[in-house]
Amino acid sequence: MSRRKAARAEAAPAVRPRSDLSIRPVRRGDLESVIAIDTQVTGLEKRDYWRAVYRRYGEAASTPSAQFLVAEAAGEVVGFVIGEVRDWEFGAPPCGWVFAIDVRPDARLAGIGTGLLESICASFRRAGVRKVRTMLASDNTLILSFFRSQGMMAAPFIPLEKDL
Ligand SMILES: CC(C)(COP(=O)(O)OP(=O)(O)OC[C@H]1O[C@@H](n2cnc3c(N)ncnc32)[C@H](O)[C@@H]1OP(=O)(O)O)[C@@H](O)C(=O)NCCC(=O)NCCS
Repeated sequence: MSRRKAARAEAAPAVRPRSDLSIRPVRRGDLESVIAIDTQVTGLEKRDYWRAVYRRYGEAASTPSAQFLVAEAAGEVVGFVIGEVRDWEFGAPPCGWVFAIDVRPDARLAGIGTGLLESICASFRRAGVRKVRTMLASDNTLILSFFRSQGMMAAPFIPLEKDL
């Protein structure tokens, strides 16, 4: 990369969304769109769950350590990301956790997922952490491809479970 290009890249903002795209904290009026996207992606409507998530991460007015962000394009919510900084969970030093990211199927492959992840990572950095983690179903190759494309690698943890 030329020195001029490198300087330009350094000066550029961390998130370079499409011109009609904005990424911002969720508002109450976005909740129906968030529920609709999740229902479309997972096939299960979870109205009470999303209201509770909104109370915890939306009404808490997005501190750098607790984030519920939406992507809006042409006046419509087309995606969202949720996460928070957790301290010393599983014995690990404070780090950012992304526990939901979804882009409406007809809006995918346009950089919206990347913009959402970069935005939440920028908030985590402002909260003082230098690591981000997530968890995904081992058969979800789409989300795995996405996270790998964002530079995320296997972490030194093993999930365990048993039937109760
Ligand atoms: C994963 C997801 C968030 C990606 O959103 P997106 O806006 O399409 O992502 P981007 O356009 O920023 O893509 C970034 C990179 O991810 C990878 N990627 C995205 N979609 C992909 C696909 N269908 N196949 C392979 N790689 C893919 C690519 O490397 C892509 O970079 P490229 O376009 O330069 O090749 C979106 O597909 C989604 O919401 N999937 C369902 C998520 C889900 O299962 N959520 C439930 C668990 S939280």
